Order: sequence, then C-alpha cells, then structure tokens
Amino acid sequence: MFVFGDSLFDPGNNNFLNISATQGKANYPPYGETFFHYPTGRFSDGRLIPDFFASFAGLPLWRPYLDPANHNFVVGANFASAGACVLVENNPNTLNLQIQLGFFKEVVNLLTQQLGDTDTKKLLREATYISSIGGVDYMIFVNSSSNITEPAMQEYVNIVIGNITEATKEIYELGGRKFAFQNVGPLGCYPHMKAEFNSTGECVQFLQILATMHNNALAKVAEELEINLSGFKYLMFDFFTSLMDRANNPTKHGFKVGDNACCGGGVYHAQNGCGFLTEEYELCSDPNEFVFWDAYHPTEHCYSQLVELLWNGTGNVTWPLNMKQLYDLDIDTEVSSQNIDLLDDA
Ligand SMILES: *[C@@H]1O[C@H](CO)[C@@H](O)[C@H](O)[C@H]1NC(C)=O
Ligand SMILES: *[C@@H]1O[C@H](CO)[C@@H](O)[C@H](O)[C@H]1NC(C)=O
Ligand SMILES: *[C@@H]1O[C@H](CO)[C@@H](O)[C@H](O)[C@H]1NC(C)=O
Ligand SMILES: *[C@@H]1O[C@H](CO)[C@@H](O)[C@H](O)[C@H]1NC(C)=O
Ligand SMILES: *[C@@H]1O[C@H](CO)[C@@H](O)[C@H](O)[C@H]1NC(C)=O
Ligand SMILES: *[C@@H]1O[C@H](CO)[C@@H](O)[C@H](O)[C@H]1NC(C)=O
Ligand SMILES: *[C@@H]1O[C@H](CO)[C@@H](O)[C@H](O)[C@H]1NC(C)=O
Ligand SMILES: *[C@@H]1O[C@H](CO)[C@@H](O)[C@H](O)[C@H]1NC(C)=O
Repeated sequence: MFVFGDSLFDPGNNNFLNISATQGKANYPPYGETFFHYPTGRFSDGRLIPDFFASFAGLPLWRPYLDPANHNFVVGANFASAGACVLVENNPNTLNLQIQLGFFKEVVNLLTQQLGDTDTKKLLREATYISSIGGVDYMIFVNSSSNITEPAMQEYVNIVIGNITEATKEIYELGGRKFAFQNVGPLGCYPHMKAEFNSTGECVQFLQILATMHNNALAKVAEELEINLSGFKYLMFDFFTSLMDRANNPTKHGFKVGDNACCGGGVYHAQNGCGFLTEEYELCSDPNEFVFWDAYHPTEHCYSQLVELLWNGTGNVTWPLNMKQLYDLDIDTEVSSQNIDLLDDA
C-alpha cells in the first residue's frame, strides 16, 4: 500500500522536516492521547484511516516515510504530509504532491535494486495507492475571502484536478493499477472554517460548493482514466458526505457534538490551537463523543466509523468498489479475463 496526502493521512512525516510546529507539526500533547498515549505527529487523538487499513490488511501501523529508521518499503510507504498541497506554489513548508511523487520514484528504484525488475513490477501492480489531497489548496485559495465567483472557483478546480490527473498517470506509468481516492472533505463544516467565516451554525455554503466542484471533477476524471488506461481500477470514497452527515447529525451516529472541536480554544474551539505553545485551549473529557478532534481533523472514533464504510460499505459511500474489493482484486486475473472478453467479442 502506498499512501499520498495531507494531514488526514500523515503518520508524522512532518516531524522530520525542518519546520516549526506552526507550519504543520502535531508533536505536542494532547495529540495522540487516546491510542498512542504520546504525540506521534498524527493530527488526531489516535489512528488515521490508513492505520486502520494497515490493521485490516495485517500490516503494522504506518511509520513515516521520512523516519530514518524506516527502510523496509516492501509492504509500502506513507508519504503524506500535513498541509500538503497539490499545487507547488501553495505551501513551501511541507511535502506537496510533486515531492511525494518524487519520493515514490526513489522507493521504486530502491525496490528494483532489492527485488529485481520483475518482482518490483509485480509488487507495484498489486499494490493499492491511496490518496487524500486538495483540501489545503482550497483553504489557501479562499483565505478569508468569501467573494470568489463560481467561474473563478471552477478555473482553480481545473488546475488542481489537472495536476492530480498528471500525478495519477505517472503512478500508472510506473506500474500502479489500483487507486483509492478519498475526496475532499466538507470544508465548510470544519470548525476552523465556521469560525473564520462567522458561521452561526450552518456549514459555510460557498466552501461546500467549492469542495463539491472538486469532488465532481475528481469522480469524472477517475471514471475516464478507467476507460482510457488499460487495467486501471479505482474507488472513490465519499469522505465529504460521510463526514458532513456526522457533523450535521452527530447523534444519529452516536456522537454528542458535531460542531465544536474536542480540543482547542475560542469560537467552535477553533481559534486557538490544540495544546499549541501557550495558547489557551480546552480539552473535552471524552473524544469519542466528538466528530472533530481539533479545528480541521476528525477524532479517531469518527475515523473508525468512516473506515468501516470505506472498507466494506456499499455504493453510495464508496464506488464502484469498496476498499476490501479493491485491495483483494487480483489485477493479473482481471486483465487476462478482460483480454478473454475481447477475444470472445472478436
Ligand atoms: C532549519 O531552518 C532554520 C530556519 O529556516 C535554518 O536557520 C536552519 O539552518 C535549518 N537547519 C537545517 C539543518 O537545515
Ligand atoms: C491571506 O491574505 C492576507 C491578506 O491579503 C495575506 O496577508 C496572507 O498572507 C494570506 N494568507 C495566505 C495563507 O495566503
Ligand atoms: C466582490 O466581487 C465583486 C465582483 O468582482 C466586486 O464588485 C465587489 O466589490 C467585491 N466585494 C467585496 C466585498 O470585495
Ligand atoms: C498544474 O499546476 C500548475 C500550477 O502549479 C499549473 O500551471 C498547471 O497548468 C497545472 N497542470 C495541469 C495539467 O493542469
Ligand atoms: C467575521 O467577523 C469579524 C469580526 O466582526 C470580521 O472582522 C471579519 O471580517 C468577519 N469575517 C468574514 C469572513 O466575514
Ligand atoms: C480520456 O480520453 C479522452 C479521449 O481521448 C480524452 O478526451 C480525455 O481527456 C481523457 N481523460 C483523461 C482523464 O485523461
Ligand atoms: C447509504 O445508503 C444507506 C442505505 O441505503 C444509508 O443508510 C446511508 O445513510 C447512505 N450513506 C450516505 C453517505 O449517503
Ligand atoms: C465491515 O468490516 C468491519 C471491520 O472489519 C466489521 O466489523 C464489520 O462486521 C464488517 N461489516 C460487514 C457488513 O461485513
């Protein structure tokens, strides 16, 4: 499994970057308090979606790709980095998609030296590539301005999607076949965005529209790639709808609070950081009652619900496959049966 993305998937890569905590590190308490009991660099109280997958697949929890103690990439690598953007100009501090792709190429070279060409090709073909990226690009794009026209939004979406498409094609060229895309979350429902845009409770509508434009375009591109690229298989996980539903209807899903973050200070607990330096913050007594852990990120309990939907859920949450189906898919059988179908048609 190879993991690309932002803070939603980052197991602590940013701890190995020469940046300050403000620029994207979760290396102070109470981050990690629920599961790890120390701050690992994950932006939550516990495990993230890729950690749950690793467990389901019988793999160890993720160690950051940049961790110098991490040299075994035969089971995969996690390149995700909090604050990571698709567009290179957006955030110079963390690992943007291009940099993550560069690291992936280094891993491909290492594996080729270690396993040889044939086995590496097979490994890359059978691996699952999971990604969560784009949300930070949009949060930087809006930067406190709600006065952005829909054509301007669409133009920006096209550039972000264009770059994601290029990156996906590059991974395909290197041998990747099985792609799991998590779409961009309900940005307007994030406690930080509600606070920044003075929401009186509702999710900030224009941000919801922006995220939806991206998600529609991503779904369309994935569908096209499956047609255009032989053997390309994918799933689209509707993180947007699943998380929005929990933020707006917390009790329906066993939560008590869907708007305020468990950890933070100020309006929606989203104006001061969670345990950051001397900023005042409050910490809820039971994170399991909250959808959001901090101003931007779900709690482990929320992730554990989402991951179950993604792993074995039905078509309105993840399509055209769920994660278990994609992970178990045997690409070689799949491709040869397609060829047989073609022969039959002939
Ligand atoms: C880390 O960043 C600081 C500030 O940008 C810089 O002064 C320092 O030389 C950097 N250290 C390394 C090891 O790159
Ligand atoms: C947001 O806009 C303000 C004012 O235009 C600017 O000073 C700031 O650097 C911008 N922030 C980002 C993250 O682009
Ligand atoms: C919003 O954008 C419109 C059209 O570009 C402009 O006329 C208007 O002055 C802007 N309003 C604010 C508050 O910036
Ligand atoms: C990728 O993003 C850059 C801006 O960083 C943009 O100039 C370029 O057109 C985008 N590429 C595609 C294929 O959309
Ligand atoms: C939110 O309210 C503050 C204080 O009234 C104001 O300064 C700020 O411009 C408002 N932000 C937006 C996005 O409307
Ligand atoms: C798929 O191929 C069609 C026809 O060549 C092309 O118009 C479209 O842009 C391609 N889609 C992607 C995502 O590359
Ligand atoms: C998906 O469908 C199921 C049953 O049809 C429903 O309970 C669930 O709320 C739907 N989920 C979403 C995210 O729409
Ligand atoms: C889905 O997977 C979870 C986690 O492995 C499991 O607890 C649950 O029973 C599964 N549900 C179905 C319907 O298979």
